[in-house]
Amino acid sequence: MDGHPEHIGRYKVTGLLGSGSMGTVYAAFDPDIHRKVAIKLIHPDLLASEKGPDRSIQIRIEAQAAGRCAHPNIVTLFDFAMQDARPYFVMEHVEGATLKDVMLCKERLPPSRAIPLMTQILDGLDAAHKLGIVHRDVKPANILINDEDLVKVTDFGIASLAQSDQAGMPVLAGTPSYMSPEQSRGDPVDARADLFSAGVIFYQMLTGRRLFGSGSATEIMRRVAHNEHPSLDVDDVPDPLRDVLRRALDTDRERRFASASEMSQALQVACRPHVPGRMSLTVPVPSSMPFDADVLAGVEDRLTRYVGPIAGVLVRKASDKARSIEDLCKMLADAIDDPRANEAFLTDVSPYLASVQPARATDAEVDTEILADMRAALAQYVGPIAGTLLRRALEKGLSIDEVWVELADQIEDAGARARFLSHRHQCMR
Ligand SMILES: Nc1ncnc2c1ncn2[C@@H]1O[C@H](COP(=O)(O)OP(=O)(O)OP(=O)(O)O)[C@@H](O)[C@H]1O
Ligand SMILES: [Mg+2]
Repeated sequence: MDGHPEHIGRYKVTGLLGSGSMGTVYAAFDPDIHRKVAIKLIHPDLLASEKGPDRSIQIRIEAQAAGRCAHPNIVTLFDFAMQDARPYFVMEHVEGATLKDVMLCKERLPPSRAIPLMTQILDGLDAAHKLGIVHRDVKPANILINDEDLVKVTDFGIASLAQSDQAGMPVLAGTPSYMSPEQSRGDPVDARADLFSAGVIFYQMLTGRRLFGSGSATEIMRRVAHNEHPSLDVDDVPDPLRDVLRRALDTDRERRFASASEMSQALQVACRPHVPGRMSLTVPVPSSMPFDADVLAGVEDRLTRYVGPIAGVLVRKASDKARSIEDLCKMLADAIDDPRANEAFLTDVSPYLASVQPARATDAEVDTEILADMRAALAQYVGPIAGTLLRRALEKGLSIDEVWVELADQIEDAGARARFLSHRHQCMR
């Protein structure tokens, strides 16, 4: 292979995956265990030191810390060794892309995808923080996403080594766009610095824009240090998520979330369906499932009898938020002040809805492949009972979208629930 080693230790190098500030990452094969691995071979210029601490010892210490982080949302570290006096890390090989690549192609991610991704990032961070390990360089390039939208955070602890000079003094490396204000000032950091970075990433996922904009590293550093960014009250961030962002991005870390799990719970609460003032994971309604324009016109017609010409505006607003046509009618009924008129509207609209019902999950034309995918996805979280749960949900005559939500409700753990819902995105795409 051109300029690349054929072997690193016992591992056979099969390709180049990329390179960063610390080293070069190779795809390789472990002949003993018979599995693909990714190997990060540290740049020689990060090592030599006449004064200061021996960097390879420092790297070994960080590797030992990273090796203690065993979690489904953290890239597993299998091995750490030296090749010609250069340290290398052998890691789980993640087939997929970095979040940076995903955002380059997609720009904005819908909340239904951004929330499960963020939840998994927070789950990974939480596991490391509980062991006293702060990442210090949480950024899209260090978040790997496999083909099933399973997130793996990488470079725990070790990334910060590239940010100190050979005498161990902190220096700036790479883009400061995702740093916390305390990091940009060179102050001591704790786990809450990672939560700030997670907030910056979440903002970018939802809006497609970098929170601190672009410009020279010095200019961005200055903006980060003074927390100078545009208002978070933007249309592309739904209300409850703005609150989560505001707390994660507070300059004063005392006012941020106290832990990654607290931030993750706030996200789950923000997207819990049926709670007034909260959003559902399906808000806004994905473009793949718009309400039928004729059905909306029929509903508007009936609503006009109770509220007059404002009906059109109410229907349009509710259709941005409702997760089903029934939900939409309930929201509209709630908008009618007079309780008798409210009830009369529901009585009036029900037979109409029955005549225009969308396909139910039990209809013959529902794609059996989707049902098989749903069952397989659910089985990852609840085991063999998945089939029974799916059958029961289908018997309720729900729409496909409602079946996903119904099944998600059967999963106790909030993070697992969000991961399950991220499969919906995959299956419906
Ligand atoms: N475990 C892995 N599995 C698959 N690909 C990986 C893995 N780790 C890294 N990569 C790939 O290698 C590339 C380089 O990673 P690397 O960590 O060296 O650079 P970086 O994250 O862009 O910068 P930094 O050195 O600041 O972390 C990544 O962009 C990714 O595509
Ligand atoms: Mg990296």
